[in-house]
Amino acid sequence: MSGRPDGLAQVVDWLVCPTCRRKTGVEEPLGSGRRGRCAATPGTAWTSPGQGHVTMIPAPPGVNADSPQMVASRSRVLDAGVFDPVDAVLSRRLEDSCRILEAGAGTGHHLARVLDAVDGAHGLASDISVAAIRRAARAHPRMAAIVADTWQGLPVRSGAVDAVLCVFAPRNRDEFARVLAPGGTAGGRQSDARPPGRAAGRHRG
Ligand SMILES: C[S@@+](CC[C@H](N)C(=O)[O-])C[C@H]1O[C@@H](n2cnc3c(N)ncnc32)[C@H](O)[C@@H]1O
Repeated sequence: MSGRPDGLAQVVDWLVCPTCRRKTGVEEPLGSGRRGRCAATPGTAWTSPGQGHVTMIPAPPGVNADSPQMVASRSRVLDAGVFDPVDAVLSRRLEDSCRILEAGAGTGHHLARVLDAVDGAHGLASDISVAAIRRAARAHPRMAAIVADTWQGLPVRSGAVDAVLCVFAPRNRDEFARVLAPGGTAGGRQSDARPPGRAAGRHRG
């Protein structure tokens, strides 16, 4: 399923069909092939375009998706080490986590630093921006990457992860609670982003 050696194959058990889950609450697992396909929702399929990630939203990315230019600028800032102290704190906080999801992961920079620090942990970077997720898919050998919308609901099985990371990105606390295993950890930095049309202050993490 992945363009990388392990990539998406490492986390395929975490993923579910976003269409079924939204419409019926049924958590239909994806296939394990290169093409994910849901048996319960005919015509619903997610393809890996050979770049190591899967797109798991039915519509094109929305207005909040970072553009390629924004992603390139962010990469330069992150690579300069500006957020290294934040990554050190996150790594300490998640040192006991084996399965880590980063929502709104952008280039996957923070998750990659955490995976560097936490031996054997696997990560899934999720973001609505295709440009960002293309980079995230190459950010770490133990990281997979998907295009998904945090506000529409994550295509992740309930209780599938030990930790949810969200750094300067939209939060969906109900979804984060759903995908966390009992005793799991949610960590990150605050973002002011909120769903379109939602009044300020109602969606802060
Ligand atoms: C300020 S950037 C932070 C990126 C990354 N967490 C970092 O700190 O480098 C916000 C990110 O949220 C993503 N984003 C915006 N709306 C989203 C949504 N509804 N679902 C998932 N990601 C979203 C953007 O594409 C962007 O990558």
